[in-house]
Amino acid sequence: MALRLLAPIHRWVLRGELPDLAQHYRSAGGTLPPRGAWSKFAAACADRRVELEQELGLGCQTNEVGRSAPLAIGFLHVAGKTGLPLRLLELGASAGLNLRCDKYWEARWFLALLEAGVRRVPVPAIVERRGCDVNPLDLADENAVQRLRSFVWPDRIDRLAILDSALDLAASIRVEIDRADAAAWLPPQLELSAEGVATIVFHTVLWQYVSAGSRQQIETTLQEAGERASDAAPVAYLRFEPVVPGARFQLRLTSWPGGREELLATADPHGRSVLRMDAPGLGAQE
Ligand SMILES: C[S@@+](CC[C@H](N)C(=O)[O-])C[C@H]1O[C@@H](n2cnc3c(N)ncnc32)[C@H](O)[C@@H]1O
Repeated sequence: MALRLLAPIHRWVLRGELPDLAQHYRSAGGTLPPRGAWSKFAAACADRRVELEQELGLGCQTNEVGRSAPLAIGFLHVAGKTGLPLRLLELGASAGLNLRCDKYWEARWFLALLEAGVRRVPVPAIVERRGCDVNPLDLADENAVQRLRSFVWPDRIDRLAILDSALDLAASIRVEIDRADAAAWLPPQLELSAEGVATIVFHTVLWQYVSAGSRQQIETTLQEAGERASDAAPVAYLRFEPVVPGARFQLRLTSWPGGREELLATADPHGRSVLRMDAPGLGAQE
């Protein structure tokens, strides 16, 4: 709820509609300290109460590309183990920025997030990328891009710079994000086995938004697809989520055939300071 309140105000600041308040927002070039911002913030809430109430009804909509760093570990792990190109299916994909993680491989900020051992491994081949979201954001829509930017905390201009770089790089590749609930979207994607590719179903910071019933449905769909999987058509389930409250997020992988579950890495919620467990195929941990 806090983010739902802060993001619309941030968006109006970024659009230049609240110049007094903008002086306190580093993301808008402001240099004033937080002290003194509250009365201006409260005034903006009162002035734009009707719009704000509508905004509060919308969900939280980030697309944190830093999470491409832990995801890369999972993608490389599956590519290394199977020797196959990847078919990526993302649940709760938002604008699909993490479905384009191979496009960031040359970007300095992305390399800085990867440890040296991982950086040396060739970029995995991705032959298909698809996603779903209950509210997909289209990168060609300026309002949608502003919405994404507004969910970054205004003092984290490092995260904003990374997002802006990713938005530039991602624009060169179109990705279909279907407007759908994850539990309903997944079964048809996994109905037919995909020979000669490793199918990876993944999500980052989605689980807390999904109902218990939908979680159960998603897990059952994956289990059934796993039972149909073979060495020629393997299926993997990769997720980067907060598993233990208050602790670092975990990157976990379940792979079929076999259904083996592994903890591949831990990281902070935005994908920084990734700590990799021993993952064969990625070289020695550094
Ligand atoms: C916190 S954002 C994370 C977005 C992205 N995975 C990331 O890590 O940057 C959660 C996303 O999940 C989507 N979402 C929430 N419930 C969903 C559901 N049942 N099915 C599909 N998407 C959902 C939201 O619209 C939002 O884009």
